[in-house]
Amino acid sequence: MSNIKVNLENTGLEKKELMKYNEKVEKAHDELHNVADKEDEFVGWLHLPTNYNKDEFERIKKAAEKIKKDSEVFVVIGIGGSYLGARAVIESLTNTFYNLLPNKKTPQIFFVGNNLSPNYLSDLLECIGNKDISINVISKSGTTTEPAIAFRIFREFMESKYGIDEARKRIYVTTDKERGALKKLSNEEEYETFVIPDNIGGRYSVLTAVGLLPIAVAGINIDKLMYGAKTAEDKYNEKSVKYNECYQYAVARNILYNQEKTTEILVNYEPKMQYFTEWWKQLYGESEGKDKKGIFPAGATFTTDLHSLGQYIQDGRRNLFETIISINHPQTDIKIKKDADNIDGLNFVANKTMDYVNKKAMEGTIEAHVSGGVPNILITLDKLDEENLGELIYFFELACGISGKILGVNPFNQPGVEAYKKNMFKLLGKPEV
Ligand code: PA5
Repeated sequence: MSNIKVNLENTGLEKKELMKYNEKVEKAHDELHNVADKEDEFVGWLHLPTNYNKDEFERIKKAAEKIKKDSEVFVVIGIGGSYLGARAVIESLTNTFYNLLPNKKTPQIFFVGNNLSPNYLSDLLECIGNKDISINVISKSGTTTEPAIAFRIFREFMESKYGIDEARKRIYVTTDKERGALKKLSNEEEYETFVIPDNIGGRYSVLTAVGLLPIAVAGINIDKLMYGAKTAEDKYNEKSVKYNECYQYAVARNILYNQEKTTEILVNYEPKMQYFTEWWKQLYGESEGKDKKGIFPAGATFTTDLHSLGQYIQDGRRNLFETIISINHPQTDIKIKKDADNIDGLNFVANKTMDYVNKKAMEGTIEAHVSGGVPNILITLDKLDEENLGELIYFFELACGISGKILGVNPFNQPGVEAYKKNMFKLLGKPEV
């Protein structure tokens, strides 16, 4: 059963306005479904929760078990779509301070190769010290500079720590099935290798080996994650906007964009979901920001950011709308006790839970922002677990594909990402090939 609910009440949009987009949406739906199983189109994610490679899935679980047994630290090397999904799921579903948790049966997990800071890598190597380690290098092209540099450094670190043979058993590669430098190296070194399917782009790849191996190493149930995604695949298969809440979200954001609401802030009230927001930002930014068009995807964690961005959102330039993710039941809750002296004046919340207060903060903020001219879309989840998150991932992927097509861009390419690389390579004197 699906748990996601979309509420557009605070956008001021009525169903009949959404329905004006129905023809476009149905066309976009057909376009996606018509090419979903083609090898040369980037729509492989559409039926992935049904069609995923079951043999590889079992191999991922086996590798994760080995890593859990023989490693105290697991380093995930990748950038953009090759790390954000894994980090989003792991941070959303584990203890907020996962890496500090004592006596856990899973390794500490660190993400590298997502920047070029020498401090970042040196600091991490210092923290890893003598601990047992495995790494997963993830790159579809196999040539992306940031992960390639980090991999070179970690490979050397592991080979000098373990010797070449043992290091080989602790290096896991996720890459293209046949092309690229990383694939070539994996063949030569006989690293255990997982495949990024040809028809799934980086930012849509969290439910492939790209996300699943690190997620499984963190002890998260990947069967349930896929089950949640499958629930969404079935639920959002209806092509009319009238019945499909995922498409309603896609249409609502396009209508708001056409009303000059050019920035969407994904808001959550749960710090665990900060990297979910980062994943979402990449998904929408890279998919829609092209041809001089597209909503700018921003993110905020409330109530934290109400004390930094709150002023702007309430009162600044009126080009914003918010999409709020609200979770009905937190994983844990804490009751606020009554204090006999009440010096802090907080007894008005005595015997209430922190989640209750958080929800009232959310209700109060929605009311304030909506009356301040910031339309709000509310997406409610029953709870933050594997199934719900799998469902939410699929929801946003599908909405993004449809939304990009309504906007009139190709949601599955990212030509703009090449510009900085071209300049950087020129400045670094990279030989032309
Ligand atoms: O979504 C994308 O395609 C990108 O963000 C890529 O995932 C990112 O640039 C990393 O590329 P690669 O996996 O080839 O190293």
